[in-house]
Amino acid sequence: MDSNQYMTGFGNHFASEAIAGALPVGRNSPQQVALGLYAEQLSGTAFTAPRADNRRSWLYRIRPAAIHGPFAAFDGAARFHNVFGDGPVSPDQLRWSPLPLPQAPADFIEGLVAMAGNGSAESQHGVGIHLYAANRDMAGRWFYNADAELLIVPQLGRLRIATELGVLEVEPQQVAVIPRGIRLAVMLPDGQARGYLCENFGAPLRLPELGPIGANGLANPRDFQTPVAAYEDVEGDFELIAKFQGHLWRADIGHSPLDVVAWHGNCAPYRYDLRRFNTIGSISFDHPDPSIFTVLTSPSDTPGTANLDLVIFPPRWLVAQDTFRPPWFHRNVASEFMGLVHGAYDARAEGFAPGGASLHNGMSGHGPDAATFERASHADLSRPDVITDTMAFMFETRAVLRPTRQALQAPHRQRDYQQCWAGLKRNFQPPR
Ligand SMILES: [Fe+2]
Repeated sequence: MDSNQYMTGFGNHFASEAIAGALPVGRNSPQQVALGLYAEQLSGTAFTAPRADNRRSWLYRIRPAAIHGPFAAFDGAARFHNVFGDGPVSPDQLRWSPLPLPQAPADFIEGLVAMAGNGSAESQHGVGIHLYAANRDMAGRWFYNADAELLIVPQLGRLRIATELGVLEVEPQQVAVIPRGIRLAVMLPDGQARGYLCENFGAPLRLPELGPIGANGLANPRDFQTPVAAYEDVEGDFELIAKFQGHLWRADIGHSPLDVVAWHGNCAPYRYDLRRFNTIGSISFDHPDPSIFTVLTSPSDTPGTANLDLVIFPPRWLVAQDTFRPPWFHRNVASEFMGLVHGAYDARAEGFAPGGASLHNGMSGHGPDAATFERASHADLSRPDVITDTMAFMFETRAVLRPTRQALQAPHRQRDYQQCWAGLKRNFQPPR
C-alpha cells in the first residue's frame, strides 16, 4: 500500500481500481466479480437519504468485512472513550497546554485522550473531541469507528493513514476525514505525532452553503483529495479494533482488512490542506461572524444550526477601519473547542501554544486577553495587520461540551486560565 495518489473534488462519485478490470462496468453486483473479488456496499447515509445527501460506496475486495473472530472488550486505550462528564458541567472557561508526548510506546489508538463531548453515538448527534499523542505505528492492528465520522487535525508530525479505500498522507495544516466504519491503520512517518481528533456522531461533514459569497470561496471543492484504490494481500495473526456505542472492542483477524482492490462511490476518505482556504473578511469596518471561516459543517435537524463546524483562523489581512481588529468579546449559544496547529492566535498574547486547547461553553464569556485588548485598542489602523504563519481552528457545536473527568484533572490543564482577563481594566469615564 505505497500508493499516494489522489482524485480531486468534494463528495464526487469516484471510481478507482488498483488492478485494471477489477471494477464491474454498468452494475454494482455482478454474479461473479472480476478477479474473484467480493462485492460489498458501504452505506454512509440511509438508503433513502435525499440524493444530494446520499453517501455510499461499492467495495471490491479479497474477503468481505464479515470475516473476523468474535469481539471482546478492548482495554488497551483506556483514555479513549465517550464518557463526557458524570455530573454537573461547570460554565468555567478551560484551557490546556499541549498534551505531552508519550513516554511509553503508544500507537494512534493507544495515544487518544478524550477531552469533551456531547450527544452520543446512540443518538446519532453530537461530537467527541480527543487529543492524540503517539510514537509508534499501528502494526498488525486495524481500527474502525462505527460511532462516528473522524475528523483528524494533525499538529505535530505527519500521519500516513492507510484505509480500505486508499492511503491518505496528512501533515500539520492539513486535515483528514474518514467516513464512519472505514477500517484503517495509522503510521507515523516522523516517528511521533500529536494532534486533535473529532468524532462526528451526526450527519457527514459537507461544505457550507456560500449564500451571497457566490460560487467560489472558502474551501473550494477541487482542493479536497480522495486516495486512489490501494490494497494489501497479507495474512497473519492480526487484530481488529472497533469502536461501537462508545466502547472499544477487539477481534482476531487472519488477514489485513485493507484488501479492497477497487471501489466506486462517494463515501470515501479525503484530505484538505487548510492553507488553500480562501479567507474572506471585511474591507470596510467590523469583521463578520467567524462562520465566514467555516471549512466543513455537519448540519443538525435545525436549519443553520450545526452539529459540528470546523472553523479555522488562517493567515489573513485585517484592514477594517475604526474597528477593534482581533476577535471581539462574545458569548455564544454554540460551544467552542479551540486548538492551535501552528504559530500564534491573534486573540491571545500568551498561554495558547501549538498543541494546546481551550473550551468555551455556551454563554461563557470570553475574548481577547488583557494584553491583546490593550494593543489592539491603540493600534495604528492606517496600516493593515498582516497575520502570517498561523493556523488556529475551532470545533464548534450547538450543544454544551461536557469535559471528561480526565480533561479536568489533567496535569496540563491551565488552572489559572481565567486570569488572562483579570488584567482588563475599568476604563469607564462617565460624563461629570
Ligand atoms: Fe469564541
